[in-house]
Amino acid sequence: MSDMLVPLYNLPARSPYNNDSVTIRRALAPEKQVVIDWVKEKFNQRWADECEVAFSRQPVSCFIAIEEGKMIGFACYESTCRNFFGPTGVDELARGKGVGTELLLECMEAMYAEGYAYAIIGGAGPKEFYEKTIGAIEIPGSKPGIYKGML
Ligand SMILES: CC(C)(COP(=O)(O)OP(=O)(O)OC[C@H]1O[C@@H](n2cnc3c(N)ncnc32)[C@H](O)[C@@H]1OP(=O)(O)O)[C@@H](O)C(=O)NCCC(=O)NCCS
Repeated sequence: MSDMLVPLYNLPARSPYNNDSVTIRRALAPEKQVVIDWVKEKFNQRWADECEVAFSRQPVSCFIAIEEGKMIGFACYESTCRNFFGPTGVDELARGKGVGTELLLECMEAMYAEGYAYAIIGGAGPKEFYEKTIGAIEIPGSKPGIYKGML
């Protein structure tokens, strides 16, 4: 999986998120264990570890999506590297309703506000998702990139 580059100065205009039942916000430090356990259960240990790093930052560099008091998605930035987006994931049952896009845009806007002109999607899985939602482009020669030789 290659990395992808995102110009943050050119993000798509944000239309109001039309889903009253879903809240998307930055995670709070006291939510750390709940969030990490959810990420490990729904996805994997590696993503849970990256998520833990996001909780060591201030402000916490992890956004979460909540519906009816339960987590349905998450997105982190500045975990494996500065300027990197990821990991991110939405519960299978909640996909296709714009939650992944909202989480992604929250992180991109946060990185722009923190002073970056570009963001990097680290080891982008669904390339079409990032191309479509934020105009990301593949970075040549970036596979396996920073993850080379990972245990
Ligand atoms: C990728 C992911 C976060 C997207 O979340 P989502 O809430 O389903 O995404 P959205 O509903 O905001 O989708 C926005 C658009 O991207 C498209 N899209 C979503 N997931 C896609 C995928 N995996 N591949 C290609 N296109 C995708 C949607 O069809 C939608 O297009 P539309 O606006 O034309 O309908 C989710 O599919 C997921 O958790 N995948 C498994 C984990 C993963 O791969 N994470 C990324 C690691 S880099």
